[in-house]
Amino acid sequence: MNQLNQFFKLHQAQTTPYPMGLTIKRAKGCYLYDQNNKRYLDLVAGVSACSLGHRHPKVVRAIRKQLGKYLHVMVYGEFVQKEPVLLSALLADHLPDPLDTTYLTNSGTEAIEGAIKLAKRVTGRAEIIAAKDAYHGNTMGAMSVMGYEPRKSAYRPLIPGTRFIPFNEPKALEHITQQTAGVILETIQGGAGFLQPENNYLKQVKKRCEEVGALLILDEIQPGIGRTGKLFAFMDHNIVPDVLVIGKGLGGGMPVGAFVAAQHHMATLKEAPALGHITTFGGHPVIAAACRATLNTILSSKLIEQTTKKEALIRTLLVHPKIKEIRGKGLMIALIMEDANTAQNLVKEALKKGLLLFFLLFEPKAVRITPALTISEKQLKKACKIIRNILDEASC
Ligand SMILES: Cc1ncc(COP(=O)(O)O)c(C=O)c1O
Repeated sequence: MNQLNQFFKLHQAQTTPYPMGLTIKRAKGCYLYDQNNKRYLDLVAGVSACSLGHRHPKVVRAIRKQLGKYLHVMVYGEFVQKEPVLLSALLADHLPDPLDTTYLTNSGTEAIEGAIKLAKRVTGRAEIIAAKDAYHGNTMGAMSVMGYEPRKSAYRPLIPGTRFIPFNEPKALEHITQQTAGVILETIQGGAGFLQPENNYLKQVKKRCEEVGALLILDEIQPGIGRTGKLFAFMDHNIVPDVLVIGKGLGGGMPVGAFVAAQHHMATLKEAPALGHITTFGGHPVIAAACRATLNTILSSKLIEQTTKKEALIRTLLVHPKIKEIRGKGLMIALIMEDANTAQNLVKEALKKGLLLFFLLFEPKAVRITPALTISEKQLKKACKIIRNILDEASC
């Protein structure tokens, strides 16, 4: 083991006893390169974060340009800084009314915290309803709305007043009442196995929220920014959430989160008390420049509409007896294998063959395919061939 790998285990906090441990030397487009210059075709994209691949020239240029001007100058919300202001305006331009005001954060989970606080302030209520098997991040508030007990029980007590309903079950919507401040849902459930809302579920949730005066918070940290064929996945469901939470793909490889709501709702965070939600680095000008370049590049391309064709290609090429189901939409695809072992082996063997795949949080039979939107059809064909070959081998 070389020194870097030793230090990784010794000095960098670990998140699992069995990290992938790939040592990265550089990355470009849809490829990663390890210390031996072995090339890996990346079907994970930093877990749905590198929407334009690695080091997209327009993103790198925007970062460099901002580096030449100023870095951090002041806490969020005090100074007028071009990049975060124009990014917020750009989001407002491409979102339906009344989603016109953006609060930029440092990560997705932090944006979830802000969204929960916002629902409490707007309604004056405390109860938050979330979905079983939901994932919204790992800070205490976000973990409180995580619908998966094995991952959270060791960290209790969490925020009181959180309740869970089964996703996609209209009957359970009666639990949303006049006590409810907000209902938080992923537009497509990620950790659970890329489950999509069915039978106008989101429309029914929104209607119920309106009836009782609760806010609907949609978490699009993973599906948002074009991954599922629309700029945001909710746009397929004929509704507008009260709060939209985004992150990951917005940053083009840089760390970001944001929650977006109506101006009159967002205004509750600035008074009684003032500074009701603050952050030092949120809206960082270099990050905002990367986000704006990412969003502009995606919006001025055909990448979003191409996700549908790429999804069809994956579905056609990955017909295999060991793949029991293919879930998800656009370039947010989960292969559901016959068992967890097959999923584990596939990811392990793929890595040996120069293909990066990864898992989902709560569904051990799932293998994620969430490449950059820029992945070519040729690269996808190559990846699918590697997957099929591995599955054909007896060991998998
Ligand atoms: C749906 C969803 N919500 C929230 C988060 C948390 O975002 P972050 O890891 O940036 O804090 C994630 C990250 O995987 C996510 O997929």
